[in-house]
Amino acid sequence: MRVVILDNKQAVGEYAANIVEEQLAENPDSVLGKATGSTPIPLYQELIRKYEKKELDFSRVITFNLDEYLLLGLNLKLDAKKDQSYHRFMWENFWQHINIKYPENTYILNGLTPNPERHCELYEKQIVKAGGIDLQILGIGSDGHIAFDEPGSSLSSRTRVKYLLFSTLVDNYDAFVKEGGYDFTDMPVFSITEGVGTVMEAKKVILLATGRGKGKALAALVEGPVTSQVTATALQYHRNFTVIADKEAAEGKELTQEKPMKRDGLRDLSRHQYAMRAEKLYSQMQAARIKGATIDDLKTMQKKFLEEILAKNFGGIQELLEAKQKEK
Ligand code: GLP
Repeated sequence: MRVVILDNKQAVGEYAANIVEEQLAENPDSVLGKATGSTPIPLYQELIRKYEKKELDFSRVITFNLDEYLLLGLNLKLDAKKDQSYHRFMWENFWQHINIKYPENTYILNGLTPNPERHCELYEKQIVKAGGIDLQILGIGSDGHIAFDEPGSSLSSRTRVKYLLFSTLVDNYDAFVKEGGYDFTDMPVFSITEGVGTVMEAKKVILLATGRGKGKALAALVEGPVTSQVTATALQYHRNFTVIADKEAAEGKELTQEKPMKRDGLRDLSRHQYAMRAEKLYSQMQAARIKGATIDDLKTMQKKFLEEILAKNFGGIQELLEAKQKEK
């Protein structure tokens, strides 16, 4: 593992863009693995700038996105611009600005697939058919997850449906509730995501981490033991892996005195119970799908689940959300 620490998120984006440029110079037919979230935005902006200056050509590039919200982050009652799907994110922040062949060469999991299991199998096959991922770009969740491989995901997992833990629901609050105008109980509870095992097969991996909020996760990734509780740590085994962080995220490493990703019994217990309930909900949704339930029916089932999580204050979610509401 190589760790590069730079001044700010802009510098992280530029550094990562240079790695992409080297990759495309070496092989213009490269297969790139793409991440979403706020962290890679400066990287995408820099790639667009290089494309506009004719330093980059994406006409032969193929991309695979890591993940998507199941049932999409789509609120049909709201303006389409407020759709929080990763598909829209990629279109707005990257694809529409470059000469990539869209949609032929831009693979992304479909959050509205009628058969998630088959869809995931097909995605894995499409990656293999494309020759595997040459360069994978990653961000990191505040709980140390990559893609949507939440704590507890098998380190050899493949593309599949995965519930979002409440820490991630809280992280998603700004995008969905503050920007998207959603009610908390309408947020997606599940994602479709590449597994840790899928990500590990990429030939080269870069992980970007910026801002103080990523301090603990970064410390756990770089200094902690390999554990399925922090799925990014699997990358310690990767042969060609570079972490690119800004000073703010790296400073958080001092938080290690407090022991990174410290597990306190109570939290873990509620996490486990939450996971069991989420898994049960997914089986019920699958059964309902088979019986012909509509997307709206499935969303209603999710909504009831989140209402119960709130009412029972699982994992102290009410306090976590109150803190989010107070933030600007
Ligand atoms: C989500 C995404 C990850 C991303 C993470 C961090 O969990 N599935 O791919 O790395 O969010 O997002 P951000 O960069 O906005 O902090």
